[in-house]
Amino acid sequence: MTSTMPSPAPTTAFTATPALPAILGTYKRQAPLFVRGDGVYMFDEHGKQYLDLVAGIAVTSLGHNDPGVMNAMQEALATGLIHTSNLYRTAPGEALAQWFVDHSFASSVFFANSGAEANEGAFKFARRWAKGTGHAAKHEIIAVRGSFHGRMPGTLAATDRPAYRLPFRPLMGGVTIVERELDELRTVLDPETAAAVIVEPIQGEGGVRVVDPEFLRGVRELTRERNVLLILDEIQCGLGRTGSFFAHEQIGIVPDMLTIAKPLANGLPMGAILVNDAVARAMQPGDHGTTFGGGPLLAHVAHHVVQRLSDPAMLQHVRETGAWFGEQLQGIADRTGQVRAIRGKGLMWGMDVHEPAAAIIGRAFERGLLLVSAGEHTLRFLPPLVITKDELAAGLVILEAAMQA
Ligand SMILES: Cc1ncc(COP(=O)(O)O)c(C=O)c1O
Repeated sequence: MTSTMPSPAPTTAFTATPALPAILGTYKRQAPLFVRGDGVYMFDEHGKQYLDLVAGIAVTSLGHNDPGVMNAMQEALATGLIHTSNLYRTAPGEALAQWFVDHSFASSVFFANSGAEANEGAFKFARRWAKGTGHAAKHEIIAVRGSFHGRMPGTLAATDRPAYRLPFRPLMGGVTIVERELDELRTVLDPETAAAVIVEPIQGEGGVRVVDPEFLRGVRELTRERNVLLILDEIQCGLGRTGSFFAHEQIGIVPDMLTIAKPLANGLPMGAILVNDAVARAMQPGDHGTTFGGGPLLAHVAHHVVQRLSDPAMLQHVRETGAWFGEQLQGIADRTGQVRAIRGKGLMWGMDVHEPAAAIIGRAFERGLLLVSAGEHTLRFLPPLVITKDELAAGLVILEAAMQA
């Protein structure tokens, strides 16, 4: 017998689903297309100029279209050798690694492609090192309240942002987040189970929070005492951003591993893990890998970038301009009465505002100023490190207008 009931139509024929963006919709993007960059400015398809106080989220520290960076890129391209894989030696990769060995605590460097990849690698390195300590259960990674270390399985587990974490539970095991308090750390840091503690000296995504140097010095002492590694994540605050080449120089501590990324190649995707002698000796061929990391084009550009960003004159400029910028933000706070707190160092500042940060960012965008948030009520300022006071002053005028509109 045949049914008189009509068969259900395919659901797709009747469901009015919105058109999908070709780029997966994980970001809300501003509407105009950006087509050009120069110095501290980006230009959209209509020729409108925007002052860039985001720098690709702390990436283009030397600004856009920097002649030195462009030249380094041309030099690398002229060899015709963009990529070899890590099966083969190249001079730029070796020169860059040697530069870090000569200019930091590191004995060796592993090149990665992003910040999250650098931190994921550091977690693996910590576990590999821990295996050699004789404690079979030593594996745990400990992060602190307010942290952001990336969006991959391990780094997400070490990231203290409920909105980023909740949709992806269960997260990777063996990662614990504790308060930024030495007493709590003293309680949880078991030498038999803990492999590493990871901390950002200034928490960027977590609201531009300058972590108490006393706490960091205490963490260093405690981790040494308990035979646990200290990983500093300077992916956002490192490489000149706070007025010293490494942020930890200002605290007077030396980590066992340091992760860096964002400005390393001024916009070409690159990260790195700097490791001390003990960690370097624990890693064996086959223990870790990456196809692209530290390729000759990236490494040649990064070698140029790190020399520029470590130049004492550049760091002096960041300290001076940054201190002045902080005072100007305070002036805006006093005049507008719309600011709850201002925090920062060098050219990395956060401003807590009463209004949702997104509303101010939107009005600033209309007026030709690029800003980013760090949480719902925090504006974050991460200008290119080469920015001048005059350029910043122009941005501050727009900011104040946008806050009062
Ligand atoms: C401190 C810190 N660690 C890690 C990351 C992750 O870096 P990436 O986005 O390159 O994976 C970020 C990115 O904002 C960061 O600020």
